[in-house]
Amino acid sequence: MTETDYLVLGSGIAGLSFALRAAPHGRVTIVTKRAAEESNTQYAQGGVAAVLSTEDSLGAHIADTLNVGEGLCHEEIVRLACAEGPRLVRELAERFGVGFDRADDGDFALAREGGHSARRVVHARDTTGREIERALLVAVRADERITILTDHMAIDLLTMQKFGGGEGCFGAYVLDQRTMEVKTLVARAVVLATGGAGKVYLYTTNPDVATGDGVAMAYRAGARVANLEFFQFHPTCLYESRAKSFLISEALRGEGGVLVTRSGETFMERYHPMKSLAPRDVVARAIDDVLKKSGDDSVFLDMTHLDGAFLVDRFPAIYQRCLQFGIDMRTQPIPVVPAAHYSCGGVVTDECGRTDLRNLYAIGEVAMTGLHGACRLASNSLLEGLVFGARAAEDARRAVAVQPPVLPTWYSGGATDSAEAVVVTQNWDEIRRLMWNYVGIVRTDKRLERARRRIELIREEIREYYWNFKVTGDLLELRNLALVGHLIIESARRRHESRGLHYTLDYPHKDEHWAKDTILRRGDGPAPA
Ligand code: SIN
Repeated sequence: MTETDYLVLGSGIAGLSFALRAAPHGRVTIVTKRAAEESNTQYAQGGVAAVLSTEDSLGAHIADTLNVGEGLCHEEIVRLACAEGPRLVRELAERFGVGFDRADDGDFALAREGGHSARRVVHARDTTGREIERALLVAVRADERITILTDHMAIDLLTMQKFGGGEGCFGAYVLDQRTMEVKTLVARAVVLATGGAGKVYLYTTNPDVATGDGVAMAYRAGARVANLEFFQFHPTCLYESRAKSFLISEALRGEGGVLVTRSGETFMERYHPMKSLAPRDVVARAIDDVLKKSGDDSVFLDMTHLDGAFLVDRFPAIYQRCLQFGIDMRTQPIPVVPAAHYSCGGVVTDECGRTDLRNLYAIGEVAMTGLHGACRLASNSLLEGLVFGARAAEDARRAVAVQPPVLPTWYSGGATDSAEAVVVTQNWDEIRRLMWNYVGIVRTDKRLERARRRIELIREEIREYYWNFKVTGDLLELRNLALVGHLIIESARRRHESRGLHYTLDYPHKDEHWAKDTILRRGDGPAPA
């Protein structure tokens, strides 16, 4: 058994922000599945939304967030996140040396993205997340009170409910993926900062690590999860089979990029007055509609009317990546399709990142704070990680450790290494395909019911496999993905309306009766038929 004060699962913006603030108050151990950089934060292109210009206002940021969230945002959380953002963004630049782009007068250069009524997105060219991750990791690595365990994956949370009687979380079983040893890590406070679950869908902008681990672990431990039907599809992922999951940032549309069909016709004016800069759910559905009607494989993002030198300077990574595939964005429209991008739902938390379980926190994409409601405003995600990483660290200082009971060491049974790895790949592919086809941008009762039946069979097979063979990282991720898929389906089945990111042909309108969160807790029973 290894003891620490704060056990942080995940190494994106939320986990690292927490760790740096918690370190003065105790030992911090960060557990991360691959290299420390490998997180959704690393791939975030757009930036952080915060009011940093005199031409903008806090009221406008709040109003835009509420507007895009379609009636399900928790207003007090929105106010708090928008208000605390500017100070924390400045701190990123001044204390941690994040190299945000600057205007000629030295102020932050601000970009515009979908759903925003003003320019308010601070950025570092088109690789903002990578720059933030770099700077925070430099600080974390320089702090000897913080230990990073790379290639380690949490299996399950240790709770008093499960092991001692009483309440509270006191650690996690963690798999060292290099030695395949299972370690018991005990802590005063445990922090889920595990990011999203994009890999539950066949096409996603997310990296391989985004397998919904935190939501799955929290649900298994008895915490409430909510609003998982609101999975955000980013409208513009590069359509090129050799480019794995490459995002084409919304900031391109913020600079004047226009969505067009194969024949060069604009179409967004038929769907929303904000045209190509409409909220993401609207743009993704519009593209889906155009593709279904035309039979085309992709639509196109046209930047060719903008200055070529400006494009190369402002979007160097996107320019280079497109060029690798023979697309020169200065002269050719970029082929794009929607792809799964962000989970607006997650583990239910309060304004300090506290979950239902004492001493268990959830911060960043894994959490459902109420900031995003039924659809997230662009670039409010890094903001959420920053704000709630800081707030949770402040709160966790006061966490009083529960006395851990005598624990059984991890039991791997008589299980031998499996030569049946094909079960994992087969189920992994099947889940992602069925989620894409049946639980995607446009849903129906019938498709959801098909998905429900299939995922139950797959989960049964995974359960059997899980208990019969030694755990591996792949198996743990599959088990989590299958559970998260099940929770998304159950949440979608419960919402009998269309709102924000949840659109179903059977209930195509918004209905005030459903203006509430969809909450699931283990043991609360299946969704109604
Ligand atoms: C983007 O750059 O388009 C992504 C920003 C976000 O997801 O908020």
